[in-house]
Formats: sequence, C-alpha cells, structure tokens
Amino acid sequence: MCGIVGYVGTQQAPPLLLEGLTRLEHRGYDSAGLALLGSTGIKVEKRAGRVRDLADGLPKRFAGKVGIGHTRWATHGPANDVNAHPHTDAKGLVAVVHNGIIDNAAALRHRLADGGVDLVSDTDTEVLAHLVALSEAPTLEGKVVDALAQVEGTYGLAVVHADFADRLVVARNGSPLLIGVGEKEMYVASDLAAIVRHTTTIAHLADGEIATVTAGGFTTYGGDLRPVARTAETVDVDPAAYEAGEHESFMHKEMLEQPAAAERVLGGRLDERFGTAHLGGLNMDARETRAIRRVKILGCGSAYYVGQMGAALVEELARIPADAEAASEFRYRDPVIEPDTLYVAVSQSGETIDTLLAVQEIRRKGGRVIGLVNVVGSAIARECEGGIYLHAGPEVAVASTKALTNMFLGFALLALQLGRVRDLSIADGRRLINGLSRIPEQIQEILDREDEIAAVAGQLAAADSLFFVGRVRGFPVAREGAQKFKEISYRHAEAYQTSELKHGPLALVSEQVPTVAIVPDDELTDRNVGALHEIAARRGPLVVVTHEGVDLGEVECTRIDVPRNERELDPVLLVVPLQLLAFHAALQLGHDIDKPRNLAKSVTVE
Ligand code: F6R
Repeated sequence: MCGIVGYVGTQQAPPLLLEGLTRLEHRGYDSAGLALLGSTGIKVEKRAGRVRDLADGLPKRFAGKVGIGHTRWATHGPANDVNAHPHTDAKGLVAVVHNGIIDNAAALRHRLADGGVDLVSDTDTEVLAHLVALSEAPTLEGKVVDALAQVEGTYGLAVVHADFADRLVVARNGSPLLIGVGEKEMYVASDLAAIVRHTTTIAHLADGEIATVTAGGFTTYGGDLRPVARTAETVDVDPAAYEAGEHESFMHKEMLEQPAAAERVLGGRLDERFGTAHLGGLNMDARETRAIRRVKILGCGSAYYVGQMGAALVEELARIPADAEAASEFRYRDPVIEPDTLYVAVSQSGETIDTLLAVQEIRRKGGRVIGLVNVVGSAIARECEGGIYLHAGPEVAVASTKALTNMFLGFALLALQLGRVRDLSIADGRRLINGLSRIPEQIQEILDREDEIAAVAGQLAAADSLFFVGRVRGFPVAREGAQKFKEISYRHAEAYQTSELKHGPLALVSEQVPTVAIVPDDELTDRNVGALHEIAARRGPLVVVTHEGVDLGEVECTRIDVPRNERELDPVLLVVPLQLLAFHAALQLGHDIDKPRNLAKSVTVE
C-alpha cells in the first residue's frame, strides 16, 4: 500500500526512481510523483494516474542525482495531482514521501493553519513537510526528529531538503523502509522489489529509527539521534523472481509457480520415519506443545480464509479445538487472551496492519503468537515468538495465489507436528506425509488443464452475480474462490455454506446467477449432490469442482475434476481451479489483472 523509492549517487536519479516506482506500482496506483534535488533547489513532478503517465509528462530538463519518488494508494483525500506525493512546504525547501497514516493530522493541520501555514492538499502527509521546514534544528536529521515528535501514527518516509543537498533522511514507524547499498550510490525503498536489480545489499530500519543516506553510505539513529549500529547484509534473492518475464501478468506467473513454491515450503520439513513434520522455527518443545488447549488463527482477507482451512486441519489432525478469525476485528472486541491458547498470525506480506496490531494486542496481554509469514524479516515475522516461513518467493500480484497455497501447506505441517505429539498415529502421520509429497505434482496436473478451465471461465464472466458454495472443508475454499473472483473480475461473487442455501440465498438462484459448487469426494458428497439438484431445479447454471468418479447424478453442470489426495488435504487442490476461473474471467473481461481497481498489495493502514 503506497510505495517509496529514493536514490543518492552518481547517476541521474529520474530513470532509477521511475523504474523503482514501476516495480512498486502494485502497492498503489492512484498517483505518482518525484522530487529531485538540483542546483536550483527542489523540483517536484507529480500527478494522478499511473507511473507511465508521470514518466510521459516529465519535462526534458528534469535532472538531479538525489531524489525521492512515491506511488500512492489514496487514504486521506482523493487521487488527484495535488494530493499526490511528494509534498512540500510553502517555500519548496522540503519534500516528503510517506507511507502510513498520521493519526493526529487534523489537529496538526489546524495548528499549522492557525500559525499562518497555507495547506494546499487534503493529505495527512503534507503536515510533515511543513513541520520539517518549521523546525529550527541545525541538521536535517534534527528537523525530522522534531517533526516526528509531534506526530502520532505510522510512517515509512523519506525527506529531502534544499539546504542539505547531499542526503536523504528516512524514518520508520510501522511501515517498512530499507536502505540498499551500491557502489558510490545508495537507494532507499519501502520494498526490495523497487531496487533489487541494482543492489541486494540491504539494511532494514527498525521502528522508531531514522537514517541519513548519502552517496558514500548511511548512518542510523534512534529517535533521540543517538547512533544505532546497523549493518547491511547481502540477501539471497534472484532479481528475476521480481519480473513477470514472458507472462502476461504476475498473477499468471505466480499461479504457475505454485508447484515449485509448494516444494519449497515442504522441503526438509517432512519426517517420513516418525510420520511427523519438523518445524524448528516454532521454538516449542514437546511439553509446551502438549500443553496447548486451543489454537486461534488470525489473518485478513484470503489469509483469513486459509486460516479457516488451517483451523480445520488442526482440529482434524491434532484434535485441538481451533478456529480462525478476521484479524481486523479481533482486537476491537476486547478478546480474552488465554495462556494455553496458541495464537497463529498468517500473512503473506508480514505487513498487514490489522494482523500486526492483533499480534501486538495478544502479546501485550501475555499470549503466545507464532507466525505463518512469507516475507522474511517482515514486521509480523519479527513480532511473533516463532513460526513457519512460507518460502513462496516474492508475490507481486494483488490477488494472492502461491502464498495462499503455501499457507495451507504450512498449516498442514503445523497440524501434523501438533498431532504427532498428541494422538495422531504414526501411520496417519505417514499417510499425510505421503499425501503432502504428492501435492506439487497434483497442482501441476490442474495447471496443465488451464485451457479447459479458461473455457469454463467464459461462462461465468458473462454473469453479473455468482454464488460459490461448499460445506465444512469446502466452505473456506468457496470463500477464497468468491474472493478471487470478485477481486479481479468485479463480478458480485458471494460465498455460502451449501447447507445454508435453502435458508435464504436460494431465492436468488436463477438462469442469470450461476453457482460454483465445491463437491469433494468425502462424507458430505451425497448431501452436496442433493443441493446441486435444488439449484438445477431453479435453472441455476452450475460449475462443480469435484473429484474424478464422483457421481453427480443427472444434474446438468460443467464439472472440473481435481486429483484425489488425503481428504484433509483436499482444499489446497480444490482451490487451484478457482484461481484459474477468476483469472480467465478477468482476462476475458479485459481487466488489469495485477492491479484491480480500488485494491493494493499489502494493507498497511487501518
Ligand atoms: C486476496 C488478497 C488479500 C490478502 C490480505 C492479507 O487475494 O491478497 O485478501 O490475502 O490483504 O494480506 P497478507 O497475507 O499480506 O497479510
């Protein structure tokens, strides 16, 4: 959500900043802007629209070797040229780019206005530029600290000042900020994606820290300006992982990467001999594990739906009561935090503010939280007491796919390990290990049938409204299917428990409202098939995601069969055709797959 990039060095900054912003565009694509430090002070170019609109409109003589850039996802004030970042003070001495939210912006705006400052935008960020400019501290670092002392809220920010033309000053509190070290040049960014082609030697700022960045290096400080030692480390990433390559979209690439990603999350963690999983990162011994009486999973959006799948796995394999809850709601209902509950935060980005705040609330009350997180070293990963890294690789598309597959597999590993220190037999443990080992190739089998599934998507794309239904294990699958479909096709897609249809929603089923039904071969197949008859009797078009050989009776439908595995693991295979359906429906509707309207990757504001 919003992206920041900055450069100071020997090259011209604009092309590097524009390239960085293009790579961050999935974080926000309402507007974009650049500020450069030149011989005549600060020059700013910004506008509503995409980064390419900004690039096309740049004046010819827009040059400088120190600069900052921003791509915005609007929170305070509509997406227009004035509200785009960078924001400046009245004299144009200071320019600021900011991710996060200044909670006391309204009060600060009033105070500044009362003091004669002319505020031109509707944003919370603009106050920062004025506060920095008004500070009488002799250094830019001091001015930034003065400004931040007056601010409540979250920020990752970068500041340039015409009187300190050799440097950027950056600060972090709740929104990621990293520094990239090059040869006689330095980068800053909110996400490694922006700069990975130029450097992989990275230092992460911690919350409450600020840093000075010049062409020659960087210095980090605490909020009191006392130096804090922070060294840059070379991270092991392949820059190609951040490129869409030959794919028409990142989402397509990331769906196709699922078999390899699944191999990575399972790799080295399955113990055939003892029929268990090895998750060293949990930091819990067998005695502590046995003492767990409940498992509570917290995540947002699709991560919450996978959390529901995970809760089912924990209950089935470990026989520990488990449930999932939307992290965005959790802390507002003043939850009871129990000492013998294991709390699990699940997040691809590791930055989602609602999930992070839920983790902090649990820890404040003495609860134990582990994380299932994809991004190594992210805020949620650091806040948790242990966890499981998902190793899905960078996920750029707003619609999450490979990270979710790996979340499910991460939960399967967790449930297996919890189960094996309790009552799950070694035979059942081995049965599940065998099943897990087959998942990557079975996902591949589904992906190989993409053309067939694309044809089915064509039938669904024509409808304005759809149902996705499933029961028990199939219900979170239906929720995730509806989520993916609505996110990128903009069709109204609603998930229901199949069993609930006749308690209300059946009234909406008609020739114009198709239903995608999840009907695995399990203990509920007959009841699910009964519901299919009820839908068909109301002339509702049906797409059924099921297993080969399941007898759907005489129901008229289009069926998509997925390979069989152990029943507990079915959801991860049933969900893959739903990703393909959503993707191909959106493609056929001509939508921007990776940048769906009104959405952005990683929701870092409440
Ligand atoms: C849906 C989607 C979102 C995220 C949610 C949580 O495709 O991507 O619903 O799942 O915003 O994000 P993370 O997992 O980064 O915490």
